[in-house]
Amino acid sequence: MANDHANCSEESNRTHEYELAFVHENDIAGIAAIHAASFDDAWSGAMVRRILSMPGTFGIVARQIRQCSIAGFALGRVAADQCEILSLAVDTQHRGVRVGGLLLDGAIHQAAEGGAETLFLEVAEDNNVARTLYHSRDFAPVGRRPNYYVRKDGTSAAAVTMSREIGVGSVRNSA
Ligand SMILES: CC(C)(COP(=O)(O)OP(=O)(O)OC[C@H]1O[C@@H](n2cnc3c(N)ncnc32)[C@H](O)[C@@H]1OP(=O)(O)O)[C@@H](O)C(=O)NCCC(=O)NCCS
Repeated sequence: MANDHANCSEESNRTHEYELAFVHENDIAGIAAIHAASFDDAWSGAMVRRILSMPGTFGIVARQIRQCSIAGFALGRVAADQCEILSLAVDTQHRGVRVGGLLLDGAIHQAAEGGAETLFLEVAEDNNVARTLYHSRDFAPVGRRPNYYVRKDGTSAAAVTMSREIGVGSVRNSA
């Protein structure tokens, strides 16, 4: 994982075109913009910064190699032996080329580095692309909260809680 935002072509954890790095202050506005384009409850840059300042929290961004703008992000929090994926989203222009898979693999790796044994996340029941992604990384449904997400258009969707053990599932090379 690249640590240095200044060198945007630094090599590590690459797909053919994308690489991962830890979130840098310069990425916060881009994360907020992708979040706003992806979810009804947009997180401001200040909120993203506040989340990242919480103990045990990590943030990963994917960017196209040699580009400084980000293509997606994953935020997670490790507490004791558990990690929650707090948010994961890919810029609309970069979807469908496995950036989400790269970010999720990076988050799983980071959770393991932080000592987590179990991963959790919540996803809208009707979010088929995200559920496909999580299923491909061995997450399985463990709970359901009806009408959890209420959208701006008035519709609602259940939240499905998904979980996987760190040691038993796969982390792909998202090439
Ligand atoms: C969910 C999201 C992160 C996926 O990112 P992505 O980079 O487009 O996904 P990937 O290209 O890595 O594909 C992930 C899986 O979904 C499948 N997929 C991708 N686009 C798809 C589509 N339009 N329809 C059906 N399946 C699709 C892929 O086949 C892939 O499965 P595979 O690895 O078994 O081949 C992205 O769509 C997104 O940001 N959505 C809005 C925010 C969101 O819903 N976040 C998750 C909240 S819990």
